[in-house]
Amino acid sequence: LSDMLVDSFGRFHNYLRISLTERCNLRCQYCMPEEGVELTPNSELLSHDEIIRLATLFVTSGVDKIRLTGGEPTIRKDIEEICSSLSNLKGLKTLAMTTNGIVLLKKLPRLKDCGVNAINISLDTLVPAKFEFITRRKGHQKVMESINAAVELGYNPVKINCVVMRGLNDDEICDFVEMTREKPVNVRFIEFMPFDGNAWNDKKLVPYAEMLDRVRQRFKNVERCKDHPTDTAKNFKIEGHCGTISFITSMTEHFCAGCNRLRLLADGNFKVCLFGPSEVSLRDPLRAGVDDLVLKEIIGAAVKKKKAAHAGMFDLAKTTNRPMIHIGG
Ligand code: GTP
Ligand code: 5AD
Ligand code: SF4
Repeated sequence: LSDMLVDSFGRFHNYLRISLTERCNLRCQYCMPEEGVELTPNSELLSHDEIIRLATLFVTSGVDKIRLTGGEPTIRKDIEEICSSLSNLKGLKTLAMTTNGIVLLKKLPRLKDCGVNAINISLDTLVPAKFEFITRRKGHQKVMESINAAVELGYNPVKINCVVMRGLNDDEICDFVEMTREKPVNVRFIEFMPFDGNAWNDKKLVPYAEMLDRVRQRFKNVERCKDHPTDTAKNFKIEGHCGTISFITSMTEHFCAGCNRLRLLADGNFKVCLFGPSEVSLRDPLRAGVDDLVLKEIIGAAVKKKKAAHAGMFDLAKTTNRPMIHIGG
């Protein structure tokens, strides 16, 4: 292994998140503004071959987990080819996808055959009308069906990502917990994070401590599990429930010290931190015909510049970043 993936704090990055598209079939409030975002022309997005060339470079350098994100990854036309090619990379253990579940019911069996072995599905409400308000589109039933299909297909656990926003869905926390009684899913309550165009303010943020309090008031024996040091989530089990719950505490208790994540955006930009504004294009040198060694130098140099941690929630809210839909989480 080269030291390309080790930063100046000694963190080894074995997890690459690849955004496949800037498009989405929903319009979630926490992810993009009502009017949508400017889209990069298709010719400037990474092609299948470019994604595989770059992914190969990362995997041969030590990445063993790739997560496909977006926009919505399932709406990319060559998604199956991309998954097949990635899952064939020697050394890759996990090929994961984060999806909104809208078209997953139909596509998941094929994606599973193509090597996708972990699925996270976004769902912020159990109330159909509220789903329409949050996502500005219809489709609640489809997402619920996709979650069930993923469970049926043997994904275990299916992770459900729930971004909690005060006054919007924070009254549903215990209903989501209730869902884990019979369903073998891992519900993850996520602190609302600021990105360009998502109208973040601290009043909409429900801190982890408060969410946990509310769960403990309703449920007995809520027990913290031992987490992996690189995990984004703090995990808990509840007596008698076959599923589990977690909290992703990016704002009130960031987990940057254990960060193992790097990001390749759909336009070929490489981003070493979700909140770091600095990006470097890998597409441009790749299209200029440079060899792997040069690409590795560019990647290594960017990784070495990664900061110890993000700037803290109030500074984050003031700095410009991309809209979430461009980054993919
Ligand atoms: P697992 O691999 O299943 O643990 O998923 P994950 O948490 O790595 O990825 P997912 O796409 O499901 O993201 C869940 C939430 O965690 C989203 O809100 C992401 O924005 C957030 N998240 C993922 N990676 C990072 C990160 O490196 N830093 C921060 N602050 N948040 C992250
Ligand atoms: N804050 C926290 N999580 C977010 N996600 C999207 N936008 C935000 C935000 N502003 C989550 C989505 C998806 C994951 C990739 O990131 O719900 O599950
Ligand atoms: Fe890693 Fe940046 Fe996320 Fe912190 S904010 S965990 S450093 S990607």
